[in-house]
Amino acid sequence: MKVFVLNGVNLGRLGTRQIDVYGVTTYAALVESCVELGAELGLDVECRQTDIEGEMVRWLHEAADERAAVVLNPAAWTHYSIALRDACAMLNGPLVEVHISNVHAREEFRRHSVISAVATGVIAGLGVDGYLLALRHIAARLAAAES
Ligand code: DQA
Repeated sequence: MKVFVLNGVNLGRLGTRQIDVYGVTTYAALVESCVELGAELGLDVECRQTDIEGEMVRWLHEAADERAAVVLNPAAWTHYSIALRDACAMLNGPLVEVHISNVHAREEFRRHSVISAVATGVIAGLGVDGYLLALRHIAARLAAAES
């Protein structure tokens, strides 16, 4: 199954960006781990990152057309982008919303996600492991659907 791992605004700077909050794993290392685990799980994982909201919306349309699964860290867009939420609502496969940090233990404005209501599930606060857990869930879900 095709799985898009999509990362939003500022996440290309992982590894140097607020390492006390987001850790030392670089974006490149995150991509490597996701692709590696994907191959192990038999998933066709494609990772992308953008700082442009419209580009992310187009990628979500692509995922909807391909009936793909999506692991999405919407980053700051989580908290206000109705455009992204509407695009997520069009998906035809599972959507796992991932946050590296525990958004519920941070500033008040981070506690609300406009995406969560249209996501299959949400993982927050487990660092970059959250992406890997999301991939494991998608693989298990797929296996259950096939059995
Ligand atoms: C984030 C949390 C958001 O509040 C923040 O704007 C981000 C990253 C996370 O992964 O913890 O950019 O989505």
